[in-house]
Amino acid sequence: MLAIIGGSGLAQLANLEVTGRLIVRTPYGEPSGALTFGNIFGREVVFLARHGYGHILPPHEVNYCANLWALHSQNVKDVVAIASVGGIRADLSPGTLAIPDQIIDYTHGRKSTFHARTDRAVTHIDFTHPYCEAMRQRLLKAAAAAGEPAVAGGTYAATQGPRLETAAEINRLERDGADMVGMTGMPEAALAREIDLCYATIAVVVNHAAGRGASARGIPMADINEVSQRAMARVRRILDQLAASWE
Ligand code: HPA
Repeated sequence: MLAIIGGSGLAQLANLEVTGRLIVRTPYGEPSGALTFGNIFGREVVFLARHGYGHILPPHEVNYCANLWALHSQNVKDVVAIASVGGIRADLSPGTLAIPDQIIDYTHGRKSTFHARTDRAVTHIDFTHPYCEAMRQRLLKAAAAAGEPAVAGGTYAATQGPRLETAAEINRLERDGADMVGMTGMPEAALAREIDLCYATIAVVVNHAAGRGASARGIPMADINEVSQRAMARVRRILDQLAASWE
């Protein structure tokens, strides 16, 4: 089954015919909320709002382990994650959608593995290519079919938050090779890999990163909501197309 993890600005899906809700308990604690099951154009999907319904959980308090385990426990194999980001690279201006292909992790203090110290052997996963290429290609195809431009590739920097970055931090991220910055991409992607979920992200640029473009003097927080709402309508069209063409 296909799962969609909605981020800020996407707490529900317009075309989802809801068939049920399920509160899942996991060995890792409580997920962000109930799983919502339903159909989009006849395709069964399950939806989870990463920040809870009502946006109650900040990025560093999301229980990423519980969220992914809950999906895994319901026979989910494929996951599309929606994530708002600030654009660092000049062409990633507000309103742009991107399907990143790399990650740099700057988060700390988050539970970032399912493996416990009691596991018999130390387990290392291959994470050279952190996103599932099959899902990335599906997303790019769905975006093209929906007539919604999406930038193919880019490096996602995952910061700890909840505060936004300083201009100097953004300069450092750029020197590191980051194209966009968000707060929820990790450990989500790594946990998905640990349990063999085919996971990829639609990154939604909702602001210029700190010190860049319209954020030269500060991030215009008041504008973010409107940009996000318009962009999420486009994300929904891509998800509709993805579900409609899913084989
Ligand atoms: N920085 C970090 N996370 C974000 C941003 C940003 O500028 N915009 C949306 N999520």
